[in-house]
Amino acid sequence: MTGSVRIRPLTGADLAEASALHREILDMEFLARCGPGFMRAYYRAWVEAPGAISLVARDEDGELLGVVLGATDPATHVRAMVRQRGAGLVARLALYAAGHPSLARELLVTRARRYVGGLARLVASRFSRAPEPSGGPAGPRVGEITHVLVRADRQGSGVGRALLDVAVAEGRAAGLDELVLVTPPDLAAGGFYRHLGWRADGEMTSRSGEPFVRYRYLLRAGGLGEGGNPPGPR
Ligand SMILES: CC(C)(COP(=O)(O)OP(=O)(O)OC[C@H]1O[C@@H](n2cnc3c(N)ncnc32)[C@H](O)[C@@H]1OP(=O)(O)O)[C@@H](O)C(=O)NCCC(=O)NCCS
Repeated sequence: MTGSVRIRPLTGADLAEASALHREILDMEFLARCGPGFMRAYYRAWVEAPGAISLVARDEDGELLGVVLGATDPATHVRAMVRQRGAGLVARLALYAAGHPSLARELLVTRARRYVGGLARLVASRFSRAPEPSGGPAGPRVGEITHVLVRADRQGSGVGRALLDVAVAEGRAAGLDELVLVTPPDLAAGGFYRHLGWRADGEMTSRSGEPFVRYRYLLRAGGLGEGGNPPGPR
C-alpha cells in the first residue's frame, strides 16, 4: 500500500481538495467549522507564507490521500500570514459567522479579542518605522507540525507515516533542532506519534482554552533534551 503513495508540496491546484479533506477529517477543530471558503483561504495563506511545511499525499491515480501542514519558523510564518492575508481571513470569518450564530458565539467567547488584537497590531505596524522582530539571540530552532490528516478509507496504510517522514526531512533540511506538535489528549493520534518516535512532553492549554498534549521530535543528535528520540519502529 505504501508504495503507491507520492508525497509532494501542496500547490494552488490542491487547495480546494486539501482544505475540503481537512474539514472532513478534522471536523472536531474550530477551523473546520468556519466554512469552506474560509478554509480554502486559510490554506492559501498558509502555503504562501515563507517557511511553510505543506505537503500532500496522492496515489498513483492522483487521488488525494492526506495532508500535512507545519512551519519551519512558526513565529515568522504566522506573522507573514497575518500581514499578507489576515484582513481577508478575518472578513471571511466574520461574514460566515454572521450567518451561523453558534459559531459567532464560540468566536466571541474564545477568539474575537485575540483576532482583533492581532489585526490592530498589524494596522499599527503599517504606520510604524520599528523594524520587524528579528527573532532575538540565536537559540534552538524549533519548527512545528500543526495538522496531519489522512482520508478515512486510507488510514492505517502508511500515508501518515509517509507524510511525516517528508515533513521531518524538510525540518532537517531547514537546519531545525527540533519539531513540536500538539494533539488533543483524547485523540488516538497520540499513539501514532509515539509509535513514530515523538516524545510526549506534558500537557498545555491553548490560548482558546482547549487542552492538548505536546510532543517533540529531536532532529539533531545531542540537541535538546536527553537521549534523542526513541526508535520509530516500521
Ligand atoms: C493519525 C493519522 C494521521 C495517522 O495516519 P495513518 O496513515 O492512519 O497512519 P500510518 O498507517 O501511516 O501508521 C504508521 C504507523 O503508526 C501506527 N499507528 C497508526 N495509528 C496508531 C495509533 N493510534 N496508535 C499507535 N500506533 C498507530 C501504524 O500501525 C503504523 O505502524 P507501522 O508503520 O510500524 O506498521 C490518521 O489516522 C488520521 O488522519 N487520523 C484522523 C485525523 C487525526 O487524528 N489527525 C491527527 C490530529 S493531531
